[in-house]
Amino acid sequence: MRTKSGESAVVLVLCCLSLLLLSPIALSEKCNPQDKKVLLKFKKELNNPYFLASWDPHRDCCDWYCVECDIKSHRITALVMKSSFPDTNLSGHIPPSVGDLPYLENLEFHKLPGLTGPIQPTLTKLTKLKYLFIEYTNVSGPIPPFLAQLKNLQILSLSTNNLSGSIPSSLSQLPNLEYILLDRNKLTGPIPESFGSFKKPGPNIDLSHNQLSGSIPASLGQLDPESINLSRNKLEGDASVLFGSKKRTRVLDLSRNLLSFDFSKIDFPKQSLVSLDVNHNKIYGKIPTTLTKVENLQQFNVSYNRLCGEIPQGGTGRLQDRFDEYAYLHNKCLCGSPLPKCK
Ligand SMILES: *[C@@H]1O[C@H](CO)[C@@H](O)[C@H](O)[C@H]1NC(C)=O
Ligand SMILES: *[C@@H]1O[C@H](CO)[C@@H](O)[C@H](O)[C@H]1NC(C)=O
Ligand SMILES: *[C@@H]1O[C@H](CO)[C@@H](O)[C@H](O)[C@H]1NC(C)=O
Ligand SMILES: *[C@@H]1O[C@H](CO)[C@@H](O)[C@H](O)[C@H]1NC(C)=O
Ligand SMILES: *[C@@H]1O[C@H](CO)[C@@H](O)[C@H](O)[C@H]1NC(C)=O
Repeated sequence: MRTKSGESAVVLVLCCLSLLLLSPIALSEKCNPQDKKVLLKFKKELNNPYFLASWDPHRDCCDWYCVECDIKSHRITALVMKSSFPDTNLSGHIPPSVGDLPYLENLEFHKLPGLTGPIQPTLTKLTKLKYLFIEYTNVSGPIPPFLAQLKNLQILSLSTNNLSGSIPSSLSQLPNLEYILLDRNKLTGPIPESFGSFKKPGPNIDLSHNQLSGSIPASLGQLDPESINLSRNKLEGDASVLFGSKKRTRVLDLSRNLLSFDFSKIDFPKQSLVSLDVNHNKIYGKIPTTLTKVENLQQFNVSYNRLCGEIPQGGTGRLQDRFDEYAYLHNKCLCGSPLPKCK
């Protein structure tokens, strides 16, 4: 009896040893088999691009290009598809199977001109997602309201695609959002009123280079993000809610819109403001002396507006020395250094 069990133990050891020798990869593979299956489907849905040639079923998928696994669980946590050469020959839609990688925290598609079609509804299954980047692609259609279900999102960047339609108001329900970057698309309609109800201080916002219209909702005055870029749209009316001496805004770019409000009454974030660009609007009134108290202003442009009166001189901000005439040109009747003297 004893001998027999001893024998079978030896056989077992030999058996395992030969298995180890025969298929070292299979035994040392860390990658979760379910994740691997999904990735291979993903690759197939993208028509097996050369870009993903390293996705060899005989190799551990934690070692594949574009993929990252968690150190402990070995589940796929990041899928980052970034073309490193200009002619990455990848064409197709975002594969729906990406929704079946339930541990994904980071999903990125960058500089893939051949990536087309909609933002897939299966993305809603990625409830652990913190970072979603779809940038410099030809992904089109609307920004789907269902993205609001990704409650852990910290960065939503849909910059530079072919997206159209209006901005869904549901996005303000994302409680952890730090950046919302929807610039350089073909978005139309107004900035949603709901954006004022983002959890304070609110995410950094870039909606620039779209075709947004209407007025800036007054509710946005409740926010205090570090940076807001609404440049190159068709926004009209009052933008004064975005200013205030107690705000911590560093960068405010409202250039190239149809904004029209009295600049004389604006109070600026004195401590924080670094960059203010309002060029090409219909802003009227004077440049207020409060602007000379903004200490760290490095970029400033009020050109192509309807401002009038003397450029305030002196103050810690020293506007007249710090910025040349190009910051002030093409207004109604601005005068004083660096422009010609007032009459
Ligand atoms: C790019 O892909 C297309 C079709 O998918 C194919 O016809 C073409 O030969 C590919 N070009 C290169 C350089 O691989
Ligand atoms: C979208 O596709 C066109 C060609 O159809 C290409 O010229 C353009 O660069 C693409 N856009 C982006 C952002 O990749
Ligand atoms: C961009 O979107 C428009 C619809 O808004 C569509 O007609 C066009 O084919 C899209 N371009 C690409 C390259 O996908
Ligand atoms: C705001 O967006 C425009 C257009 O996308 C860009 O050219 C500009 O540099 C941005 N402004 C700042 C201050 O980053
Ligand atoms: C201000 O904007 C105008 C119009 O875009 C531009 O011509 C000028 O160079 C800018 N000036 C500065 C100082 O940035």
